Amino acid sequence: MNIRPRRNRKNAAIRDMVQESRLGLENLIFPVFLKDGTNIKEEIASLPNIYRWSIDLLLKEIDSCMELGIRTYDIFPAIEDHLKDQSATMSYDPANFYLKAIQKIKETFPEIVLMSDVALDPYSSDGHDGLVRNGKIVNDETLPILAKMSVAQAQAGIDIIGPSDMMDGRVGVIRSALDDAGYTETSIMSYTAKYASAFYGPFRDALNSAPKSGDKKTYQMNPSNKAEALIEAQLDIEEGADMIMVKPALCYLDVIHLLKENFATPVTAYNVSGEYAMVHAASQKGWIDYNAAMNEMLLSIRRAGADGILTYFAKDFAQSLVD
Ligand code: PBG
Repeated sequence: MNIRPRRNRKNAAIRDMVQESRLGLENLIFPVFLKDGTNIKEEIASLPNIYRWSIDLLLKEIDSCMELGIRTYDIFPAIEDHLKDQSATMSYDPANFYLKAIQKIKETFPEIVLMSDVALDPYSSDGHDGLVRNGKIVNDETLPILAKMSVAQAQAGIDIIGPSDMMDGRVGVIRSALDDAGYTETSIMSYTAKYASAFYGPFRDALNSAPKSGDKKTYQMNPSNKAEALIEAQLDIEEGADMIMVKPALCYLDVIHLLKENFATPVTAYNVSGEYAMVHAASQKGWIDYNAAMNEMLLSIRRAGADGILTYFAKDFAQSLVD
């Protein structure tokens, strides 16, 4: 044998030297949940160690995450039921506590990067990402609402708009609304290939945002499809997306790879709530090692081709670098 691959694995220094994919804090985006009020740190049963925070305590939490080196955050609002309506009016109402909180976070941490979610579901009494008319999710009537929501978020100081609704044409409509309002520097990270997945359950618990009827299969993608992701990516890029996202991450590593190989636009992946919850559940039972499983998952998403990863593991990963 003149070729023995094990020679490049014989000690840690050599393994580290030839390591192909790397994972650093610069790759991670930390999703956090915000709730109206003060002094609130509410547990979410299906998302261990992740909380719904009121803004006062969220500022402290962000402070400790910034100390650990996490610079980018995705903020999701938990809206009380009585403030929801069919057309998600609260999403762009200046009285929306979310918009005020964004302003406050940017004032407190000017160097932070904040991402938002753009879709009707947290604000919608129907729990759908688009407007529901006669039991159908209507595309074109949803677009102006998404545009208003995006402009309100940009005005509050959001750096990266994250349309997660999967309506056709929304990236273009949002881009021109932002530009018309003067927010030419606000980025769009589009949820490009977002699948109708069983792994969003804990997130919907966190926001109480599950659809009141039906499912999301007329707008989110069929888990069996890959070629369709190329169509979605091409459209989003043509419409002005700065980054394209695949969601969830782990069942769709091939899709991440496909988009990375085919487009020059940076690719990100959302390591979603159900993926995080599974690792917690199994490690609580003593069936897997939490940190090892976390590292392997995040590294596999990088290896597949993701530049950035949205992950609930962000703080634990940052902590593991210090420990
Ligand atoms: C809402 C949205 C969802 C997630 C992010 N934005 C849920 C959904 O589409 O039903 C899921 C994130 C996660 O599970 O961590 N448009």
